[in-house]
Amino acid sequence: MKTADNKAAGGKVGKLDFIFKASRRAKIFILIHILIYILLYVCTVISARSGAVIYIGENKLPVSAFAGVFSSVSNICLVVMVLFQKKFGLIVSLLIIILQMPILIVQAVVQKNLTSIPGLFSTIFTIAMIVIIYLNQSRIVREQKRMQDLFEQTATALVNAIDAKDKYTCGHSERVAEYSRRLAEMSNKSKEECDEVYHTALLHDVGKIGIPISLINKKGKLTDEEYEYVKQHSVMGAQILEKITEYPYLAIGARYHHERYDGKGYPDGLKGEEIPEIARIVSVADAYDAMTSIRSYRDPITQDKVREEIVKGSGTQFDPHYARLMLQLIDIDTEYEMKERVKARENDMSGVFSVGEHRSAMGDGIILSSRMKTIRMSVSSCDEDAGIPPSPSFILFDSLDGKIHTDEREKRERLYIEYGEVYFDGRTETFSARKMQTTIIEVGAADIENKDEYKIEAVRIDDHAMIRIADKYRTAEIIISLPDSSRYLYIALTGENCSISGLSIIRNEENCPDDYIPRISEKISYIDVAEGDMPNVQIDGFRSGTSEGTEIKDGLKLTFHTKCLPTARLVWHCPSIILFSSDNGKADGPNYREFAFMRFDGEFWENDKSCLTMLEVTKTDAFENWDAWMKHNMDGYDTEVTFRVEGNKIIVITENAGISIRDTAEISGFNKPIYAAITGDQIAVTNIRRSYSGGGKP
Ligand SMILES: [Fe+2]
Repeated sequence: MKTADNKAAGGKVGKLDFIFKASRRAKIFILIHILIYILLYVCTVISARSGAVIYIGENKLPVSAFAGVFSSVSNICLVVMVLFQKKFGLIVSLLIIILQMPILIVQAVVQKNLTSIPGLFSTIFTIAMIVIIYLNQSRIVREQKRMQDLFEQTATALVNAIDAKDKYTCGHSERVAEYSRRLAEMSNKSKEECDEVYHTALLHDVGKIGIPISLINKKGKLTDEEYEYVKQHSVMGAQILEKITEYPYLAIGARYHHERYDGKGYPDGLKGEEIPEIARIVSVADAYDAMTSIRSYRDPITQDKVREEIVKGSGTQFDPHYARLMLQLIDIDTEYEMKERVKARENDMSGVFSVGEHRSAMGDGIILSSRMKTIRMSVSSCDEDAGIPPSPSFILFDSLDGKIHTDEREKRERLYIEYGEVYFDGRTETFSARKMQTTIIEVGAADIENKDEYKIEAVRIDDHAMIRIADKYRTAEIIISLPDSSRYLYIALTGENCSISGLSIIRNEENCPDDYIPRISEKISYIDVAEGDMPNVQIDGFRSGTSEGTEIKDGLKLTFHTKCLPTARLVWHCPSIILFSSDNGKADGPNYREFAFMRFDGEFWENDKSCLTMLEVTKTDAFENWDAWMKHNMDGYDTEVTFRVEGNKIIVITENAGISIRDTAEISGFNKPIYAAITGDQIAVTNIRRSYSGGGKP
């Protein structure tokens, strides 16, 4: 019974949910109208009972005549609430009126006050009026919703028809629409604008309906003639969508989504902001999805490479603003995995994984990090009759797509590097790893019952990794010293004559402590050279190290030498500058607050709401191309960063290999010292010196 009561109570609360869930703005709107209504009601009562008169010229006007005016305006107030706040407004309006009813009934029936009868009728009339308005409004909303649903269903059906033509880009339009909407949201567009962007992106390739299926699915690259024909899909799409006059932006998106920011796109060769904004948004989202999907003529490009393409295309192919937002989307998508890889892993884990000859089959890469991974499996011989024992093993490697490669071209393209192979019995083969060390412990895992079961624990911390392989009877502990700590470490199952089943992987949510793996070799240092005004810094991975902070004053100059670590391979493997504040001026100090992050390749982030950043990136004549930029960073160079302070603005200026950066950070409402420090990704920073442009020391 109690439960039933609770349910009933819950039900009532549920029905009134719209009141509790109403936005702050809606509640304030209602509150203001209630107050106006009360004021008008008081005016109505006072004026109705007043015997006073007002003289207008020689005419006398009794104050009581205004009672009707006040009463009418108060009724309009209720109608406005219903019109603008729908159900919430209706309930509040009805409550207000119903609360007045007993007073009017008592006056009319009990006190026989006949003057209150018109008020009673007026109130009943008002109730009827607001209910009719509400019902009519609900009908219009339902109709609009039905039309919207109809449009969306038609659009989705059309999009499915287009995507079905292209067997390689299934779901492309919907993904582009989702990314585009997120870009619009990140640009603080209104809900309506975000919806417009979504629908435009959803239908951007509608013109492909007129392109022959044989061209869309052609294996290999298109001929020039074929490409010219495929390019027409943007104009065809616009012609189809022009008929939807209610939504003119749909045709605009379809027509201009292949325009380029530098004017080299098609169909009209528009440049910069001549290209409608909606098309500039769709363009970057479209390119991102196209690169991360399989195409008839190539495999998907890896996330790092896609990111690099967007950095390179910022200001040339893409609007720099939306390219930057796309990069942010990629950066926060840390769990991103290519669809193909997910599929491969699922395949590995579902059935039985069999390897006949050594390495004749290989699993997909399992990435190792400082969170311990526990992998369990059963291993049996592929050929039990022949009495050959199974010999399972792991290959330790890194590649941009987390897969093992044997083809030489693919190895080069995917930057494939193999560190070694670890057999389940503790034997190892070392390739690119610096060292591997095995310890056999004659104690098995307590939670293993069968002799063919294995439990593997694997963890990687900086430039060392540990793999513990346990069966029922003993444990092999292998420590691997990697060439550096900047690259990824994957392990992939393989072996010889083994059949692996019941594979499961669990990742620990806690990080292992930094000293969890005993070191078997010293860390390779690239900063063993003379120091400047502060210690040199080796930055093995993204922001894994930061220089000392220097308080920013007008004219501050930071000079230093930077050189990529040997494994650096992407355009953003270069120095960055951070502007921050902390109690001790250190980048890991108490009350750390970061205002801006600026990378030498021209990327930046605002990290604090009180900081408004204006970044001007120009490529001077000294900028050859991105390959030359990477080589410049690999070779190493001396660089200089100057800081100017103008009121609450900090201007950071630097130019390197033709990329000129001028970053203006406007920091408001903050009066503690602001510091600058050097960080980056896969670089060695040495000989760091600080001075004022006047030659003094800060
Ligand atoms: Fe297109």
